[in-house]
Amino acid sequence: MEQTFIMVKPDGVKRQLIGEVIKQYEQKGLQLKAAKLMVISEELAKQHYAEHEGKAFYAKLITFITSGPVFAMIWQGENAVAVGRKLNGKTNHLEADLASIRGRFATDTSLNVVHGSDSLESAAREIGLFFNKTEQIG
Ligand code: RTP
Ligand code: MG
Repeated sequence: MEQTFIMVKPDGVKRQLIGEVIKQYEQKGLQLKAAKLMVISEELAKQHYAEHEGKAFYAKLITFITSGPVFAMIWQGENAVAVGRKLNGKTNHLEADLASIRGRFATDTSLNVVHGSDSLESAAREIGLFFNKTEQIG
């Protein structure tokens, strides 16, 4: 069993897509282990996206991800990391499968509705950044 960190980004929350994202993950058979609506601080945003520091889109990304509430979640299941990446779809919405969340809803490579951990190591790191043990169902 794997766990992955999935987040509805500020554009997805504004567009009332929290339920749609949860539905996709539930219907695919993953189990929800933690969830909360929150506003990301600049400090947390920089930790979460540390790998992108120095890239052309970094400043815009930090501004965007802190611009409004996000819906942070932990989902568990077999191959949860890969399943999450597949459900979310490719970063560039033009390349994303039309059946994926980004393929259906994203309108821009930056405003792409959802985040999903890209490896088991990232998942463990991101879960630790966003959730206390007491917020997680065992
Ligand atoms: P995420 O981390 O949000 O799940 O997205 P990802 O793995 O598919 O993509 P990643 O390369 O980690 O990029 C993180 C987020 O930065 C924004 N981005 N903008 N060229 C651009 O303008 C650009 N490239 C990336 C997106 O919001 C992307 O999801
Ligand atoms: Mg990423």
